[in-house]
Amino acid sequence: MGRVLVTHPLPAGGTDALVDAGHELLEPGSRPLADWAPEVDGILCLLTDPIDAAVLKAGAAGNLRVVSLAAVGYDNVDVAEAAALGVTVCNTPGVLDESTADLAFLLVLAANRLSSDAERDLRAGAWTGWDISDHLGTDVWGTCLGLVGYGRIGQAVARRAEGFGMEVLHHARSDTGVPGYVAELPELLARADTVSLHVPLTPETRHLIGAAELATMKPTAVLVNTARGAVVDEPALARALERGELHAAGLDVYSHEPAIDPELLAAPRTVLLPHIGSATTRTRVAMARMAAEAICAVLAGRMPAHTVSV
Ligand code: DGY
Repeated sequence: MGRVLVTHPLPAGGTDALVDAGHELLEPGSRPLADWAPEVDGILCLLTDPIDAAVLKAGAAGNLRVVSLAAVGYDNVDVAEAAALGVTVCNTPGVLDESTADLAFLLVLAANRLSSDAERDLRAGAWTGWDISDHLGTDVWGTCLGLVGYGRIGQAVARRAEGFGMEVLHHARSDTGVPGYVAELPELLARADTVSLHVPLTPETRHLIGAAELATMKPTAVLVNTARGAVVDEPALARALERGELHAAGLDVYSHEPAIDPELLAAPRTVLLPHIGSATTRTRVAMARMAAEAICAVLAGRMPAHTVSV
């Protein structure tokens, strides 16, 4: 049986498959991952663990065969290096779609209705009672949602938006054949009242939404990001909000988590959440289980449910 490094405590039942298969589970303690890597057959990690070339090379010099992420995003893993070294990389698509789509839609509503500002005023004792001109936000019904990226999560957000009476457009790298497809990103940005991002972080999508793209959006528009922080140029977003060039933003992800760009923290009309897109008990257990099962599969010589390729 194999030795598996589990980098963080997982939700209850998360490692059952590994235990049942007889693998030895190890906790990293204060030892760096690169020190552990040559001594284990598998690493079960989170999106916060940098699985870089040094870790992978060290692992491949030993027995490391699989890195399994309890996450769908894998920008923390040097996938090209893993492929070159023959280390399988697995992730957990599918099980977090609905939870993440719920959170994205929560941000669509909260940012349009400026609910964080309203709650802040109430908590500060600044609410003087119902007033017809108080805390006015924007309706989402009858407006247009523009999805950037149309994978499983983007499609799940589209279903929610339709239920809320929104027109839904989407942009993806290739034609989806689905009504609402917009080939050019600037066109989608110009037409949408709310833009929600659902692309992985890659060299191509880093700062996909920068100053030029924000300038293309309506000054009344809302930007929602539940994908990865670095898909957005955060200082440019903060400036657009500060200057009133954008109505509001709802963010769950940041470029340098857990640090938040001070300009973003100071920017007006924002709803800021701490990367909780998939944070429901059911979903997090499912993610952990899927990640554990993938390691069992690889170490048993079977194909895991999902692998990541360059
Ligand atoms: C993921 O799995 O990539 C998500 O960001 C976690 O919520």
